[in-house]
Amino acid sequence: MNKFRIEDLSVRYLDNNESLRKINMEIEENAITVLFGPANGGKSTFLRTLNRLNDLADVKEMSGKVIFHEDNILEKTTDVIELRRRIGMVFSRPVPLPLSIYENVAYGLIMEGEHDKKKLDNAVENALRKAVLWDELYDRLQDSAYAISGGQQQRLCLARVLALEPEVIMLDEPTSALDPVATAKIEELLNQLKATYTIILAPHNIQQAARMADYAAFFLMGELIEFSSGKEMFLNPRDRRTQEYVSGRYG
Ligand SMILES: Nc1ncnc2c1ncn2[C@@H]1O[C@H](COP(=O)(O)OP(=O)(O)OP(=O)(O)O)[C@@H](O)[C@H]1O
Ligand SMILES: [Mg+2]
Repeated sequence: MNKFRIEDLSVRYLDNNESLRKINMEIEENAITVLFGPANGGKSTFLRTLNRLNDLADVKEMSGKVIFHEDNILEKTTDVIELRRRIGMVFSRPVPLPLSIYENVAYGLIMEGEHDKKKLDNAVENALRKAVLWDELYDRLQDSAYAISGGQQQRLCLARVLALEPEVIMLDEPTSALDPVATAKIEELLNQLKATYTIILAPHNIQQAARMADYAAFFLMGELIEFSSGKEMFLNPRDRRTQEYVSGRYG
């Protein structure tokens, strides 16, 4: 089953820069779809379009469709708060709030008006377990989120997203600030989470792209050059530009 169907999506910023050009793509659920390619290809713009975070950027024009649950989420009538709850996002730098570990995970739920202590406790524990942090942090829940390692902070950011029970998790270079051990933990975690969620990942290097991709999309200067299974993309790319990038000849 596909979770998103993207039809002729184009995005143009205020400076007239066309950052995405006629993108057509389907995103499968319960799989990891990797977006990769050289800098400025449009990967982050694409991710920000799917949960309408681009609304907050200097976008001048968006056209085409992003179909999610049979609705085109680019329509003005979309409830973007609800959309962002269902499509959570993790960014490249861990950005915990200046609050306790507990409060970081509970934050979104409290904002939604949940004040039942038992429910919050349960939700926090569940989210920390899913992010494989509970065993490390269960006795430090009241400590500052800044008191834990960068890798733990990034998993905490993931727990914060998971607490809202999203359907889709998007991650934009989530391990670019992490060491190899912390990176491996995040990768392992994503491989577990894909059983339950749709995952869209913009990795920070091509090795991670090749390791993680069930499906892969190669973006170059705002165009989707090639889309296929991860295996095909990295073993047997069809387009010459993909071949060159994958074999390390540019980028
Ligand atoms: N807020 C913005 N205002 C104007 N132009 C932007 C903005 N954000 C991105 N762009 C432009 O859109 C194009 C695509 O950028 P984007 O950040 O989506 O690429 P990317 O593939 O994520 O690159 P990277 O690998 O460096 O993260 C670039 O030409 C960039 O300069
Ligand atoms: Mg980017």
